Amino acid sequence: MNWTYEQLYTPIEKVAPEKVAQLAKQVATCQWRQTYHIQPPTGLLNDPNGFAFYQGEYHLFYQWFPLGPVHGLKYWYHVKSKDLINWEDVGVGIKPDQYYDSHGAYSGSGIQHNGNLYLIYTGNHRDRHWVRHPMQGMAVMNPKGEIKKLSEPVIKHVPEGYTEHFRDPKIWKAKESFYVVMGAQRQNKTGCVVVYRSTNLTDWTFLGEVETSLKDFGYMWECPDYFELAGQGVLVFSPQVLKPVGSQYQNIYQTGFILGDPLDLKTLKFSHHDFVELDHGFDFYASQSMVDYRGRRILVGWMGLPETVYPTDKNGWAHCLTLPRELKLVAGKLYQLPIAELKQLRKDEQTLVTTINSIIEVGTGVHYELECVFTQIKAGEVGLNLRTGAREKTVIKYDTVKKKIILDRSKAGIEVALQYGTTREIPYDGHRLKLQIFMDTSSLEIFINDGESVITSRIFPTNNENKIQVYAVKGSSHIDYKKWTI
Ligand code: FRU
Repeated sequence: MNWTYEQLYTPIEKVAPEKVAQLAKQVATCQWRQTYHIQPPTGLLNDPNGFAFYQGEYHLFYQWFPLGPVHGLKYWYHVKSKDLINWEDVGVGIKPDQYYDSHGAYSGSGIQHNGNLYLIYTGNHRDRHWVRHPMQGMAVMNPKGEIKKLSEPVIKHVPEGYTEHFRDPKIWKAKESFYVVMGAQRQNKTGCVVVYRSTNLTDWTFLGEVETSLKDFGYMWECPDYFELAGQGVLVFSPQVLKPVGSQYQNIYQTGFILGDPLDLKTLKFSHHDFVELDHGFDFYASQSMVDYRGRRILVGWMGLPETVYPTDKNGWAHCLTLPRELKLVAGKLYQLPIAELKQLRKDEQTLVTTINSIIEVGTGVHYELECVFTQIKAGEVGLNLRTGAREKTVIKYDTVKKKIILDRSKAGIEVALQYGTTREIPYDGHRLKLQIFMDTSSLEIFINDGESVITSRIFPTNNENKIQVYAVKGSSHIDYKKWTI
């Protein structure tokens, strides 16, 4: 379907309720609806926004186009939770109803201050010539949950030297000041991050560009996020586009981080190590993090990519968010672990401890968590076939000859983004491997060796083939296998 301007930019409030109800019906019949991931009621979800802990609850918003699986007029949709697993639908959080967000309430972030939750976001305004004028707007949520916008944007202009690609403020507080990092594109069409400072949340001063060693690294950096972890500075961002290098940068766009000494807020110098991708799967982008009341740094990503057709499109919706992950710095390395609360979802434990030298069937399932620790690996290949039967399978394996961990979704079901390949790899060399996997109707998140790396992907099985197989071929491996239904 070709979407007209009118279909893309008519606010949902002006669309006949029967039409929206009809779409919701169509979405509900989709065989790939998730069961424990945040997904849109209808239409398209993209970036997580405004992730914050406020008044005893986690608040999370996401970019939302209600009327179909395309990037039309964006809203912020609001969900909240006391435990990060049971999410309550709150409904629309921010509507694009001002001149400065006439073409969408784009991504942004939240911070608690003086008893309110302040949400700063990009108003995507386009003029008659379709030229973009990004302005940063602010909305304030009070303890009753009412969200009101300030009538004027708090940052009205793009500073000299940058193009119209200037968006996605991520806010934090240091000492007595507030700061935001924003994604930007220099006039020479390279991406970077800039910083603003404020003492009252409404008057913002442009400080300049974060000085990194990545001078020509993608044409735009979207959704930046800066925080400190165990005394180190972490700058996360989503550069568009990096050329593939070995097993890295395989998707259309990337999300990753640079880690170094804390950002010097006076000089904006950031001395850092190499860029590392946050996730090695097919579907991960535009993540956002927050720190909770227990001091945990928690990150959520968009489990999807821009400019990509997904099989759910036919049913009028697209994408979901990843499970929340806790970030930790261990011996200078960033680890990502599924948040501990997810254990509360575990039911019906099955275990198996044995040595194998073939393919064995260990159970069936669609919605589950499983953990498989391979030790004493003396095989050419060890792995798991998931959602499998006569025709389909999703394979996660460790090839000890190629020294790679490989996710293969070539036979997982309906294919997605084929031009970007059907496997994802991580170089690996070891005699032990721990895989912790969260499987939902149409996704899997694989945490390797307690968060050393993560592989996140959508899959679209068609055949109801739900076996779980564990294997070791060309040799043997000890396995310690556990599975819980979710
Ligand atoms: C990233 C992004 C952001 C923008 C938003 C619009 O996916 O392009 O840069 O604010 O999506 O929905």
